[in-house]
Amino acid sequence: MDKEDNTIESKLSANGKTLLEKRYLLRDAKGKIAEEPNELFRRVAKAIAGVDSTYGYSVDKTEDDFYQVMADLEFLPNSPTLMNAGTELGQLSACFVLPVEDSLKSIFKSLQDMSLIHQSGGGTGFSFSDLRPEGDPVRSTEGVASGPLSFMTIFDKATDVIKQGGRRRGANMGVLRVDHPDIFKFIGAKKKEDMLRNFNLSVGVTDEFMEAVSQDRDYALVNPRTGKVKKRLKARDMFDRIVTCACQTGDPGLLFLDEINRKHPMSAIGTIESTNPCGEVPLLPYESCNLGSINLALMVKEGAIDWQKLKETVDTGVHFLDNVIDANKYPLPEIEQRTKQNRKIGLGVMGFAAMLARLGIAYDCEEGIATAEEVMKFIREEAVQKSVELGEQRGSFPNFHRSTLAKDYPAMRNATVNTVAPTGSLSIIANTTSGIEPMFALTYQRNVMGTRLTEIDPVFEEMARKHGFYSKHLMEEIAETGSLQNILNIPKETRRVFATALEIKPQWHVRMQAAFQKHVDNAVAKTVNLPHEATEEDFREIYMLAYRLKCKGIAAYRYGSKAEQVLEIGGTG
Ligand code: CDP
Repeated sequence: MDKEDNTIESKLSANGKTLLEKRYLLRDAKGKIAEEPNELFRRVAKAIAGVDSTYGYSVDKTEDDFYQVMADLEFLPNSPTLMNAGTELGQLSACFVLPVEDSLKSIFKSLQDMSLIHQSGGGTGFSFSDLRPEGDPVRSTEGVASGPLSFMTIFDKATDVIKQGGRRRGANMGVLRVDHPDIFKFIGAKKKEDMLRNFNLSVGVTDEFMEAVSQDRDYALVNPRTGKVKKRLKARDMFDRIVTCACQTGDPGLLFLDEINRKHPMSAIGTIESTNPCGEVPLLPYESCNLGSINLALMVKEGAIDWQKLKETVDTGVHFLDNVIDANKYPLPEIEQRTKQNRKIGLGVMGFAAMLARLGIAYDCEEGIATAEEVMKFIREEAVQKSVELGEQRGSFPNFHRSTLAKDYPAMRNATVNTVAPTGSLSIIANTTSGIEPMFALTYQRNVMGTRLTEIDPVFEEMARKHGFYSKHLMEEIAETGSLQNILNIPKETRRVFATALEIKPQWHVRMQAAFQKHVDNAVAKTVNLPHEATEEDFREIYMLAYRLKCKGIAAYRYGSKAEQVLEIGGTG
């Protein structure tokens, strides 16, 4: 074993290693694993650093930097980059939005485009708002239209049959505007267990609608084909239906379309109507975005944030993701063109809750929120600075002068720089908490070859040892409930720091999302996890609070309300 291999093997957890083996490491023609984890990171570093030569820079140092941040699990690019960089497929992005216009030709082109994207490991978002409603006349056949919902079921079925290169199941976002005549049906679509399993659903709401809810006014349903008002109804009635269904099934969430477009630096180019599957990247039709996430848990030194290391990791991350745009093999020419016009990237974070625990700060308190803002403000400012520097060296993104960024910056390489992705798989590889989510549990029961083993959250174990209350007996006691809250001989402060997702009041989840959103120019993927007993009133409050705090979208999930999710913690679909 060489030195590189040694370092990585000692850093990977057993679960991380298993996941890499199952889905990421290249295989030979017989299906046998053909690379080691260090070779994976080397392959990716080489493929992405190679881009530097086209700009006249030396590749070697860049390749080493890229290799090192990944091998140290300090920064990881999204799954398609890890899987496909340096391979013939070469599709590196996780996020796409495709247009769906009101014609059979457009609908079925979109379906075909979706299949190519899923096959290469990407996820797709669609707005179905332009489709004429069910029962509307169709001139060519003198028949009636079947409406957005029936077309969505075809996209869903197609997703079922196309496994993403066999490595994960495709994920979709389906959006319908709240003023579409078929919205009632859309909101309740997932009440039937097996309907639209491969979709997350979001109702696209406007400020006007949200204000109508607050003030108990009417609003209009409008036929998108004719522009005619079909019917007027009470906004509160529609909002009630949304919260009832969300409470029952976890869907739909909301997308705040006006806030998204107000903050979009490319509003001169077009209007955003959808996001990628998990909501963290609002995109124009045919845009794609590649993501990468910094492991914040490793940005702590001696109980304080290591700002210098964070700065360096941000610089490397931005450089890496910008190179990905050039190294990428795009599934469609339209996507390549659109993506290269705006060069959006999404540098995100994972391990935020683990970082807070290492700092001894609780998630659900003012200090937790303030830390989130401080960290993300720093990351965004540094990322923007790096993008300006790259813009000066390599040229701004082609649409720069049509963007709102041109008034604030001399040059800029990327129309957006940061995001917060769920990091469903990345956080397992990096062995830390996902995205900005609180810890889900402190202990997990795992079945290892027929034996049930108790696993302890690594940061919790580290803290328990450091503060002298680690004991096997105590860990077993915690394993029974996965929580510290009833173990009174542990100091109250420690119990607060290790409060888990369902113990944290929903308002804190939303406030945390909003704190990050303040300094994120894409959006924030977050699920407000609620205990099984949560009520419709809880959902109503959460959705309203998210709007008031200027989130770009909101999704909440009541524990146990869905048999299966599009994206599951610990799995990748
Ligand atoms: O951790 P990983 O890079 O695998 O992905 P993530 O951060 O959990 O999800 C990021 C994005 O990848 C999602 O918003 C989707 O656009 C896409 N994705 C997908 O297409 N299919 C999946 N099964 C998981 C994620």
